[in-house]
Amino acid sequence: MAGFPTGVAVVTSLAPDGTPWGMTCTSLCSVALDPPTLLVCLRRGSPTLDAVLASGALAVNLLHSRARATAELFASGAADRFERVVWRADARDCCGPHLVESAHTIADCRVTDVHTVGDHAVVMGGAVAVAQLCAQQPLLYGMRRYGDWAESAEESHLYYDFIS
Ligand SMILES: Cc1cc2nc3c(=O)[nH]c(=O)nc-3n(C[C@H](O)[C@H](O)[C@H](O)COP(=O)(O)O)c2cc1C
Repeated sequence: MAGFPTGVAVVTSLAPDGTPWGMTCTSLCSVALDPPTLLVCLRRGSPTLDAVLASGALAVNLLHSRARATAELFASGAADRFERVVWRADARDCCGPHLVESAHTIADCRVTDVHTVGDHAVVMGGAVAVAQLCAQQPLLYGMRRYGDWAESAEESHLYYDFIS
């Protein structure tokens, strides 16, 4: 799969005790438009997965090209990862910490289904809100390295849609 480049997300969730958790994730896929649904594959045993399952909610933070350090931090297993980024969890319909300086877009999702496949859990998330924070280009990952989009992005309008 190294030869299948993707964008880079950090999946975040708040445990029921209020502790923020999050992990870098490229196993992310758009599943359906109606209802708007995506899936992420998270390793079993992950405290981030535990928080997602316990809270029934997650936020998918799509990283922009200047957030490589955030991707590396949230792949490191560092216990203090949320002390080293700017994050908020006070937006309407917020389903997990928002990495407001690292993400170009954030999807807040409720867990609608979970399948265990080997050492990972496939988590379906129904999107309840999507926020585009900036028009920066996405961070990419492929061939075991990070990159960014070579072409200049078209102008796009910032938006914040509440889906339900
Ligand atoms: C570019 C990149 C993509 C990753 N994608 C995934 C993924 O899709 N699913 C997963 O379980 N781990 C993935 N990982 C590994 C996790 O980010 C890493 O194991 C992290 O420490 C897990 O956090 P946790 O301690 O909260 O479980 C990825 C790592 C990198 C560097």
